[in-house]
Amino acid sequence: MKKILITGGAGFIGSHVVRRFVKNYPSYEIVNLDKLTYAGNLANLTDIENEANYRFVKEDITDANAMSELFKKENFDAVIHLAAESHVDRSITDPTAFVMTNVIGTVNLLNAAREHWKGQYDQKRFYHVSTDEVYGALGEEGMFTETTAYDPHSPYSASKASSDHFVRAYHDTYGMDCVISNCSNNYGSHHFPEKLIPLAINNIKNNKPVPVYGKGENVRDWLWVEDHARAIDVIFHQSKTGDTYNIGGHNEWKNIDLIHLLCEIMDEKLGREKGESAKLITYVTDRAGHDLRYAIDSTKLQKQLDWVPSLQFEEGLAKTVDWYLQNEAWLNNVTSGNYQSYYDKQYSEK
Ligand code: NAD
Ligand code: DAU
Repeated sequence: MKKILITGGAGFIGSHVVRRFVKNYPSYEIVNLDKLTYAGNLANLTDIENEANYRFVKEDITDANAMSELFKKENFDAVIHLAAESHVDRSITDPTAFVMTNVIGTVNLLNAAREHWKGQYDQKRFYHVSTDEVYGALGEEGMFTETTAYDPHSPYSASKASSDHFVRAYHDTYGMDCVISNCSNNYGSHHFPEKLIPLAINNIKNNKPVPVYGKGENVRDWLWVEDHARAIDVIFHQSKTGDTYNIGGHNEWKNIDLIHLLCEIMDEKLGREKGESAKLITYVTDRAGHDLRYAIDSTKLQKQLDWVPSLQFEEGLAKTVDWYLQNEAWLNNVTSGNYQSYYDKQYSEK
């Protein structure tokens, strides 16, 4: 019996990781810790919330005492740490929130583990989920590998880079069993509609302008979220202590090409005339410090741990659109409340 703490399990990727572990490992006890910020939503987990091997704890990782008390009480065998402030645009408006959760919150978890796992570091694992954005931006050529130097540009990526450094430092200094993975852009169900793909789906559905930053020429490498969850599963169970893996889809798209593909899929699904949704595309002021291109080389993960992405992008995007169209109540719920004021502030100035 393994007791695993998953942080940020009510968010987009975290909910897929929690679901996978609860379903695939009935002998594990999964404790989902989440503060339930605007991005955390227990409705993401209704299908597994009554499973015997699942529990939810509402806590804030910036609260060092609460983290220490929890580790004392629970005797976790491992942590899979996903809780974070995750949206680049919000980090440009309010960097401090990102330092608090992503840096201080991660250090609080490391300290709690360090204190309560003393003498048993070889039997405990701290898995930190990170991003390819720590590597900075690529030009037209090349890919990020595990040895690419860190060069973050946004307050979000700077905070994630800092958290990665602390995790490595706790491995190197105290001998804790720490593992890190850095993943490219995820897409799929339960993605909060402040991020490009779900925001565009929601706007196209409601005949609202689809905001494309700058000229739409920035490139992202998109991965099906369930493939990311599977990679985390494989790395968690099979990687060596202190190891790092890059996870990516080998699936680069210019933003404007992706949006055109999405418009075509939406025209078909909504029974609109071909080209109708594309009329909503609106070029707006670029994001400050906008990284031009991300591309992940995941050869190490593919060769060492036999992981490959399972879905072609066109198929995954069509499945994602279906999910949003079939889950109107979820979408209406997350876009009510504070969402509209965030949206108005973010896009009225563009
Ligand atoms: P998300 O914003 O959807 O979810 C984050 C979750 O963390 C939410 O449930 C939120 O309530 C919780 N949280 C935030 N602050 C907290 C705090 N102080 N205490 C406890 N819980 C808190 O994010 P996501 O897109 O699912 O990303 C999850 C992780 O994966 C992050 O660490 C992110 O950096 C990383 N990542 C994301 C992507 C991507 O494409 N979304 C790609 C690579 C890596
Ligand atoms: O690369 C991994 C990262 O991917 C994760 O670490 C982050 O948590 C996640 O949010 C994501 O970051 P991005 O900034 O790449 O994702 P976002 O969906 O915000 O933007 C994707 C691209 O689309 C980016 O080039 C900016 C552009 N964009 C975004 C929005 C919200 C637009 O053109 N218009 C928009 O309205």
